[in-house]
Amino acid sequence: MSTARDRSGMSASERVIGIAHPQPAPILVAMRRFNLQTPILFVVIALALPFAFYAANFGQAGLRAALTEPHYLFSSNIPANNSIFSHMVAGALITLLVPLQLAAPLRRQFPRLHRWSGRLIVLAAILTAIGGLTYIILRGTIGGAAMNVGFTLYGGLTLLAATQTIRHARAGRIAQHNAWALRLFWLVLGSWLYRVHYGLWYLTTGGLWSNPEFTGGFDLVQNVAFFLPYLIGLEIYLRRRERPAPA
Ligand code: HEM
Repeated sequence: MSTARDRSGMSASERVIGIAHPQPAPILVAMRRFNLQTPILFVVIALALPFAFYAANFGQAGLRAALTEPHYLFSSNIPANNSIFSHMVAGALITLLVPLQLAAPLRRQFPRLHRWSGRLIVLAAILTAIGGLTYIILRGTIGGAAMNVGFTLYGGLTLLAATQTIRHARAGRIAQHNAWALRLFWLVLGSWLYRVHYGLWYLTTGGLWSNPEFTGGFDLVQNVAFFLPYLIGLEIYLRRRERPAPA
């Protein structure tokens, strides 16, 4: 029996199962098939937990002027201290909450909780970004101009993603809300990924092209490498997902 095909040569059943759609990456297919997304998000939380704990502890001690050792981030500039140490506390909170917010079963089961924790995340993300940016204005980063630029871009994008996520949610534009929430996810995880990159680099190279002034080749790349490649990868994924099937 012959099957009716359209101009592109596809049968109706092929169109329904979406053969004409660009194929998603195998890892994404596997994640969907075995519903791996939620367990992966929990693994991310577990891996980021020590960093979040470090940031929260550092932040609260700095805010109370109770650091156990002198640190270059703590100075006689009180507004700069308040900015940098409150950004650490708020940053620690979102590092743990943002992956939880993306877990689909929780979102479906507890929509009110999703909305309230979403508002808390946006507020904390704005505080984190403004705290970091204010510190850059008041004191500048340890790495100088290049690091100031990279971190300013990071803070600006975090502010943008946080405000766009809630703006689209409130307007009921769910597709845009989801896309911005994913951007915020990668930006928030960026601070943890920054440390992961350094850890892996020092483990494998012993710290090649990196120095205490953060002006080595690796340090310079790192000024944007902890968020930009992830955002570019995400944009490619979002474009592929949105591309309509050929008629
Ligand atoms: C997303 C969650 C974030 C967390 C958990 C976090 C945490 C931290 C921690 C723990 C430090 C101290 C580094 C150390 O000595 O160990 C730090 C430094 C810093 N963070 Fe964040 N951060 C986050 C996001 C941001 C954002 C969005 C900005 C935006 C500009 C930012 C700007 C800075 C700056 C400027 C420094 C000081 C760099 C230096 O001169 O050493 N952070 N952050």
